[in-house]
Amino acid sequence: MNTRSAPAPADPAARRDVEAGPIQVGLLGIGTVGRGTFEVLRRNQDEIRRRAGRGIAITMVADLDAARARAIVGDHARVVADAREVIANPAIEIVVELIGGYGIARQLVLEAIAAGKHVVTANKALLAVHGTEIFQAARDQGVIVAFEAAVAGGIPIIKALREGLTANRIGWIAGIINGTTNFILSEMRSKGLDFATALAQAQALGYAEADPTFDIEGVDAAHKATIMSAIAFGVPMQFDRAHVEGIAALQAADIRYAEQLGYRIKLLGITKRRDDLRSAANPAGGIELRVHPTLIPATRLIANVEGAMNAVVVHGDAVGTTLYYGKGAGAEPTASAVIADLVDITRLASADPDHRVPHLAFQPGELQDTPILPIDEVVTSFYLRLQVADEKGVLARITGILADNDISIDAVLQRPGTEGDGLGAPAAGEGKTDLIILTHDTVEGRMNAALAQMQALPTVLAPIVRIRKEELN
Ligand code: HSE
Repeated sequence: MNTRSAPAPADPAARRDVEAGPIQVGLLGIGTVGRGTFEVLRRNQDEIRRRAGRGIAITMVADLDAARARAIVGDHARVVADAREVIANPAIEIVVELIGGYGIARQLVLEAIAAGKHVVTANKALLAVHGTEIFQAARDQGVIVAFEAAVAGGIPIIKALREGLTANRIGWIAGIINGTTNFILSEMRSKGLDFATALAQAQALGYAEADPTFDIEGVDAAHKATIMSAIAFGVPMQFDRAHVEGIAALQAADIRYAEQLGYRIKLLGITKRRDDLRSAANPAGGIELRVHPTLIPATRLIANVEGAMNAVVVHGDAVGTTLYYGKGAGAEPTASAVIADLVDITRLASADPDHRVPHLAFQPGELQDTPILPIDEVVTSFYLRLQVADEKGVLARITGILADNDISIDAVLQRPGTEGDGLGAPAAGEGKTDLIILTHDTVEGRMNAALAQMQALPTVLAPIVRIRKEELN
């Protein structure tokens, strides 16, 4: 009888699996993304093991709805109600946080780090607000916090910014990073719907949450823009300095006028380096960080990103402009990003922490305190719509105010007016007209001064609509 044990497998992945078994993962929360992660990991386990160098298995799941969790994982993983049981299990090397929010999720992530676990999270709100504290805790413990799924779901934008574009001095990023609002804006444009009707459709189709506040007010996009800004420019997360505007006030008339002028309106997350502000006294310059409805030329690829899709444009000095497009939410697209992080950690877990990719792309000691600029100092061009009395000299007075404030006009359009249905029916009553003005770039503070002067004219009959415009050259 041959008593020799079987020879060790030749390939290192199989060898590590035999020696140590698959790396064990604990899931905190098994809702849509958790289920997707569990299913994709099982479906593609062989390919994933060949890439990671070791199998990856979710062996423990914590969820308050234990019955639902068991229905998903069967007998492949132990289900518990208490997340702390997962964190306390010494066999679990990676904790995946899919609870969301700043509350208990922050506590559990910090506890998992303190217990020496690597963490994967899709929680953009948590990182944008508490990222500095979390990354410091992770460095102190020598563990990885990975967050590809936190920005633009399945699009590997964190990987691109942190690694693929690492040669570049990044100039700016502009992204459609909230699918719910992009769906609403697409419906408003293509079907001429007003905001409330398009939102109701988004909710009926399951795109928008029952409480869609974070989406429509731009907060979700601002969380994601904050994370990209930190990675692009090597600054700490500063969500509290972001300027945030949503889409609830957008009117169908402006979407239509924008289209007539060759533009589309998208909710963009924008972050931009302002080297023009650098001087001996201010060597750091400044950074713009803002989310707001934005006119962009209809000919740009990103202007044609419709429905719930996401897209991010990044400009680097060496590479030029690059575009990343895909699904920003959903079970398997987001699982794709979560599992990419699991593979990264599996490959790097045994590496010296100093040899890993830094959380924010720049070495921790190399982060800078470049200020995030107040919105008054942002430079952009504008779309203005003024409802005015159709009288002699009105246009001259308005253009005079813009000139007095050193604001240059790019284009002017005069139309009969949009009162009533907001869809282009002539205004009720005679003697009113809509003036649409596109400007060249100006400092926002200057535009605010001009707007106050224009609004005070007796011939300006309604609140002026002001939407920022970006050419994305
Ligand atoms: N609610 C987000 C969106 C998805 O609509 O894009 C997750 O970030």
